[in-house]
Amino acid sequence: MLDRYNREINYLRISVTDRCNLRCHYCMPENDPCLLRHEDIMRFEEIREVVGVAVSMGVDKIRLTGGEPLVRKDIVDLVSMIASISGVKDLAMTTNGVLLSNYAASLAKAGLHRVNISLDTIDPVKFRSLTRGGDIQKVFKGINAARHARLEPIKINCVITESPDEADAMQVGSFCRAEGLQVRYIPKMDLQLGHFGVVDGGSGGDCGSCNRLRLTSDGKIKPCLFSDIAYDIRITGIRKSLEMALGNKPEKGTINLSNCFHNIGG
Ligand code: 5AD
Ligand code: SF4
Repeated sequence: MLDRYNREINYLRISVTDRCNLRCHYCMPENDPCLLRHEDIMRFEEIREVVGVAVSMGVDKIRLTGGEPLVRKDIVDLVSMIASISGVKDLAMTTNGVLLSNYAASLAKAGLHRVNISLDTIDPVKFRSLTRGGDIQKVFKGINAARHARLEPIKINCVITESPDEADAMQVGSFCRAEGLQVRYIPKMDLQLGHFGVVDGGSGGDCGSCNRLRLTSDGKIKPCLFSDIAYDIRITGIRKSLEMALGNKPEKGTINLSNCFHNIGG
């Protein structure tokens, strides 16, 4: 489907939960801020329906995000449900990797194609501090499990403060080269201040070639991460919400005062 600026929209990013087992400084406040009520979180059946309609409109690429998608109960079943929709050509997940060693094999079997794993430093102490308590060894295990399960190409998301030349980013880069992983440098963003930038090694952040729509964990279709525009599938209906989001996708991102990274997905 084409939007009014002639961008081909074929990518839907789905936040399946606003919960996470880490507390990265740039994403999550230390204590759960405004967590969604359980009944507001989309049920699998609703997500399946959204994907079905989106695919009928031309979406062929799906990514599951969070929060942390692997903390959503029965996530493997959701992956199967989405993988079985014909027309889904690319089914990926963005995860912090902490639980991945438990799930990689089942996810691959359920039909997940590939994973992006967040890793901003390879220093265990810095990792623990950045994520407020995370164990980097679990992420390394998760990366290995993803490789064994052939969830490839494995991409590493590395959030940078200044540039890809800063020490932690360079070390993540060398680690990725040694391990045969692709690295993507993501400038630290601020939704409220409207700070965003182009992802180095990826496709995000470049408004002119943006191909995506988003579905929040509470069922809102959003045309842009840096915008407050949202259509609630439970109020507006699925097809209409997708059409409205497509028709009102802004030319460029501005600010988003309604979401946090943990409920819209990075
Ligand atoms: N800036 C940039 N990326 C962010 N993410 C979360 N918060 C931010 C932020 N403030 C992204 C990271 C992480 C993914 C889950 O979300 O890239 O890998
Ligand atoms: Fe969790 Fe990812 Fe946010 Fe870190 S960036 S708190 S791992 S959702």
